[in-house]
Amino acid sequence: MNNTFMKTIKDVDVKDKTILVRVDYNVPLKNSKVENDLRIRASLPTINYLLDHGAKKIILISHLGRPEGKITPELSLSPIANTLCKLLPHQKIGFYPLPTPGEKLKTPADEKIVLLENLRFDPGEEQNSLDFIKNIVTATDADIFIQDGFAVIHRAHASTDAITTLLPSYAGLLVEKEVENLKKILQNPDSPVLLIIGGSKVEDKQPLIDKFIKIADQIIVGGKIAADGYMSTNKKIYVAEDFDENSEGAKLDIGPLSTGKIASFITDAKTIIWNGLLGYAEDPTYATASTITAELIGEKKDATTIICGGDTTGFVENLMENHPSLSYSLVSTGGGAALEFLLGKDLPGLKAISS
Ligand code: 3PG
Repeated sequence: MNNTFMKTIKDVDVKDKTILVRVDYNVPLKNSKVENDLRIRASLPTINYLLDHGAKKIILISHLGRPEGKITPELSLSPIANTLCKLLPHQKIGFYPLPTPGEKLKTPADEKIVLLENLRFDPGEEQNSLDFIKNIVTATDADIFIQDGFAVIHRAHASTDAITTLLPSYAGLLVEKEVENLKKILQNPDSPVLLIIGGSKVEDKQPLIDKFIKIADQIIVGGKIAADGYMSTNKKIYVAEDFDENSEGAKLDIGPLSTGKIASFITDAKTIIWNGLLGYAEDPTYATASTITAELIGEKKDATTIICGGDTTGFVENLMENHPSLSYSLVSTGGGAALEFLLGKDLPGLKAISS
């Protein structure tokens, strides 16, 4: 799978075409407001590319949450339409319900960008239904399909799989960036390769550790996993050895000795993958190790640096807001998708646009 050839948006003339773009706007909402807009911002390069290359209309399609085929007002994409309007202030952006069978979507000519309502409001999306997605293709008069929802590429749904049988299909710039960076890690990473693992669920992280035993020169295990007593006899694995504790003795962050070790591994590494926070970073008191790690990686300009996993990317994104000098090769938008890619699993949405 990781060796397959993927045509991208740069391989097709989009001028005067109507383009259906699958994005992943499955973002956290609070009080009907977008809490973290990483995935929305990450879709902008493709949208701007299409605008710059004369696309007639860009129809954005996405899911949000798991409404199980029912119209669920709290999972409407309407707050995302508002965020898009703020991020693209010079564009007229329309927001429309999913077309009913046989209905044609009518939009003003100067409304170049259109967002459709949550695809999962219809059971056909998760059932990978050809009829469901054909109705959207017909209603919108789409000429081309662009897959740019990297975070949903591990699902075989109508908008990631069936659709590719109906329209010429290409990867968007986000999918291209994620795939290229992650592929490099698996196929020809510059050494030394450092994997930093944190978080709380050992069962989620062990497959990644097992996979990277062969690829990495050094693996660090921190976070709750280490605090809970993770053990390994493998020489490549360093498990955090000291912890900051609260008054009840709960180990809530890794301590200065372990953080210092991480710092020295980061200094030497030429490829760094970080997945999982190193402490209970929601509480700033216990965010020290994660902050230092994020800063050291983000200041490093002589390495490929990849941040993945929802909590870790959210943490790094927040930090970047106040530290514009921090930068990473990839802050992955795909939680599950990135992990499955790194584990070498088949990703149906990627397979569907590859040959
Ligand atoms: C995600 O957030 O991981 C993707 O949007 C996929 O969502 P799902 O797990 O509900 O399919």
